[in-house]
Amino acid sequence: MGRKGREIVGPIVDDVIDGLKVSYCNELMAFHYYWYTSLYMQGMGSLTIAGKFKESAMEELKHAGIIAERLNQLDAMAPSSPSEWANVSILGDADPSKYTTLRSAVEKALEIEGKAIEHYNELIKKVKDADYATYDILQDILVEEVKEEQDLEDILAKLELVEEEGREIIEQF
Ligand SMILES: [Fe+2]
Ligand SMILES: [Fe+2]
Repeated sequence: MGRKGREIVGPIVDDVIDGLKVSYCNELMAFHYYWYTSLYMQGMGSLTIAGKFKESAMEELKHAGIIAERLNQLDAMAPSSPSEWANVSILGDADPSKYTTLRSAVEKALEIEGKAIEHYNELIKKVKDADYATYDILQDILVEEVKEEQDLEDILAKLELVEEEGREIIEQF
């Protein structure tokens, strides 16, 4: 652990650690959501979206790794038990088995990204003037979450267009 690194965060350090633990659990829940959905998604066009979801799963796992490293620097451990991931995360019920159609999977992913974005935004505000290292890390992650949300919105918009026109989805992605 970095003694000075922890010390300079000051009195909010425990608050920051709690926030990072929530982030870690969100990331692992999101990872599993994307991963599982990519395996079981059904319907036309789902192969392409499954590939995109697999990439998103890897990105969430990368985020979890970055968060765990920051927790380590602050002399804290990431939550280790899967039941804790579900309880500490603010994503709510993210059981991927309920979202196996293309549209429902994308809509649920958008909901997950929205909640993750709100969470990071709040945490960034909290650390802004006290913990520059966490501030930096969270900003980078937030930018990637916002990009993911935009990609999902684009997919959904295309999906709606295709449904309206009754065309084959598979050619659209
Ligand atoms: Fe993430
Ligand atoms: Fe994400």
